[in-house]
Amino acid sequence: MRPFLIAPSILAADLSRLSDEIASCEAAGADWIHVDVMDGHFVPNLTMGPIIVEACRRVTKLPLDVHLMVEKPERLLEAFVQAGASHLIVHVETCPHLHRTLQHIKSLGIKAGVTLNPGTPASLIQPVLYLADSVLVMTVNPGFGGQEFIPEVLPKLAQIRKMLDEIGSSARLEVDGGAAEDTLPGLIAAGADTFVAGTAVFKHPKGIKAGITALRSAMLPRS
Ligand code: DX5
Ligand code: ZN
Repeated sequence: MRPFLIAPSILAADLSRLSDEIASCEAAGADWIHVDVMDGHFVPNLTMGPIIVEACRRVTKLPLDVHLMVEKPERLLEAFVQAGASHLIVHVETCPHLHRTLQHIKSLGIKAGVTLNPGTPASLIQPVLYLADSVLVMTVNPGFGGQEFIPEVLPKLAQIRKMLDEIGSSARLEVDGGAAEDTLPGLIAAGADTFVAGTAVFKHPKGIKAGITALRSAMLPRS
């Protein structure tokens, strides 16, 4: 069994202290830093672009897991790679040429991820799974942090786990949205191995370290 990874989403961080917030994540044992890029079109919210990725890159060596919730993401790939992204994740809903876009990301020398909304069937990503270094399953509708977890997505998560196993893929199976102490056991049972968490890390009442520690304890097998 590969180790479970935690990817704090800086969408929930105090952006006036971004460097300190990232340092706290790193000190608490975070594995990746997740950056939510939103364009106000594909999703209603407007957030961060390559300059934030570049700022993160200057303050941490952790992989930067960049989630592109934008229309026409293919126009922006080079800019994010130059800014220091380690992984670029694109939505199947925004990519009519998904196969080409994933190949494009890989040709830039970084890892390619594909993601899908709660309302999108797993079958739409099946043909490109062999190209993906990660699959991100949205367990909320993308656009905002702090939303309620949608448990009805769990069967689809298990279905994608099976699809990856069937083709012998070593892709990470990531989940995004509402990951917390109480939802983690179900996510793990469905086959997730990598957990994006915004609220559960940055808004934990006892701070970032306590948030990450609580997630780690929820990953331990129950007796
Ligand atoms: C939602 C984003 C998520 C979000 C997760 O559109 O893709 O990464 O920040 O936040 P929480 O963990 O608060 O649901
Ligand atoms: Zn995200």
